[in-house]
Amino acid sequence: MTDRSTILSPETATPRRTPAAVFDTAREFRFERHHFDLIAGLLYQLAGIALAPHKVEMVYARLARRLRELELPDFDAYCALLESDGGECEIGFLVNALTTNLTSFYRESHHFDFLASVVLPQLRERNAGASRPRLRLWSAGCSSGPEPYTMAMVLVSAMGADLRRWDARILATDIDTHMVETARRGIYPLSGTTGIPPAIRQRFTVDTRLDGEPAVAMGDELKRLVTVKPLNLLEHWPMSGPFDAIFCRNVLIYFDRRGRTKVIEDFARMIRPGGHLFLGHSESLYGVSNLFRQAGPTIYRRE
Ligand SMILES: C[S@@+](CC[C@H](N)C(=O)[O-])C[C@H]1O[C@@H](n2cnc3c(N)ncnc32)[C@H](O)[C@@H]1O
Repeated sequence: MTDRSTILSPETATPRRTPAAVFDTAREFRFERHHFDLIAGLLYQLAGIALAPHKVEMVYARLARRLRELELPDFDAYCALLESDGGECEIGFLVNALTTNLTSFYRESHHFDFLASVVLPQLRERNAGASRPRLRLWSAGCSSGPEPYTMAMVLVSAMGADLRRWDARILATDIDTHMVETARRGIYPLSGTTGIPPAIRQRFTVDTRLDGEPAVAMGDELKRLVTVKPLNLLEHWPMSGPFDAIFCRNVLIYFDRRGRTKVIEDFARMIRPGGHLFLGHSESLYGVSNLFRQAGPTIYRRE
């Protein structure tokens, strides 16, 4: 899936040494510091995600399941598999297993208010009278898809019939291929859709079932707007932009300074002047870039 050598050099690959004390010897599989360091190093090289030492339990729990599935005797065998010539496939699995995919509809809803009340009206004003104006939004690190579908709900609601005049598209990308599949399918357990206001849910979604349980499917009006693709933010980006707004929320928090700086510089190239970048609630551009001006809480305007 990825060329391991392209991203960051091996010297920087392991974020921090892990204290030996956290390695519990009473586990089903022996899991030692060198196993954790190799796995953490690969995840950092490939996804830019710096695993803190307190993540040992999480890493063990998620990968022990994988060892059982593969019927491997221990983590030595698993690490050998990762490092083998045919290990690329397993590395893809490793990234999927260790990324944090927490997300929800209308998460940090003030961003969607800003999209509806500032970004879209500004675009309409700029393009008044144009016959087929272009509108591009990007959910970078979209997880299973609630973020780009919420963007689509807001877009259709705020633009009304005028949207037909626009060449509007929402790109949604994630490194985790399972998340990309789920986002493409656009069907969510009913319990995961409580953030959607009832009137919006009624208008844009269809009741269905998923694994025998009540579920909600994104309607065609939303799906037509959203294109979901796999993309590692630390690699080359095939699209050329420019974007009017990028949502990259709760993703940079897992990167170290170097990864964050690379991605923010690339965003600055991808967002048109006057376009907006939305970050997660605990993320900031402070000390990372001076190409943006703060436009609201965790909202930045490209200069
Ligand atoms: C916590 S989720 C955030 C989802 C959504 N943006 C939100 O705020 O609700 C973080 C997502 O970032 C993705 N991710 C992590 N590293 C990435 C990378 N290097 N490139 C692209 N996506 C990445 C993960 O797979 C995960 O789905």
